[in-house]
Amino acid sequence: MKKIVIYSSQTSNTKKLAEGAAAVLACGMLPVTEVGEIDHYDFLAVGFWFKGGQPDPSIQEFLPKLVGKKVFFFASHGAATDSDHARNGMNQAIELAAGAEIIGSFHCPGEVPEKVQAAVREKNPKAPWLLNAPDAAGHPNAQDIDHLQTTLLAAMK
Ligand SMILES: Cc1cc2nc3c(=O)[nH]c(=O)nc-3n(C[C@H](O)[C@H](O)[C@H](O)COP(=O)(O)O)c2cc1C
Repeated sequence: MKKIVIYSSQTSNTKKLAEGAAAVLACGMLPVTEVGEIDHYDFLAVGFWFKGGQPDPSIQEFLPKLVGKKVFFFASHGAATDSDHARNGMNQAIELAAGAEIIGSFHCPGEVPEKVQAAVREKNPKAPWLLNAPDAAGHPNAQDIDHLQTTLLAAMK
């Protein structure tokens, strides 16, 4: 089975998850901006970060291309892991990849730079994830990456 990890990442949190996924899958990884033809891949682990409560725009554009593919999603966000905000964002990705076989997903907090938090704090209405953003500091950490790898391997069985 030909596998690849594809990801979008602005501040490298999701890239760290992508590296963890590629290591355990023993396959290559590519930023979504450099992906060409995906016909020859059977399995794609696809990672993204949250922007405005949704998968970031570059991955949103890519998701409809996954028709007929076996896919595992992973993501990082400022929100708490166990929040409706995080679940909804992941569900949006699943919906946008209609026609793909989604075998599993994983998401965890990713550190939000203080500058970004300060800018978001100025906005009204208040972003629902802002309250939990300080707790994302230091994530993804080794435990998050380990959790991703375990979840991914279990989904592939
Ligand atoms: C412009 C911007 C918008 C963001 N919007 C959200 C959001 O709506 N929900 C959320 O949970 N996190 C949000 N975040 C936090 C990022 O999703 C989080 O820090 C993520 O780990 C970044 O991943 P990356 O380092 O791979 O780019 C936002 C961050 C930025 C910079």
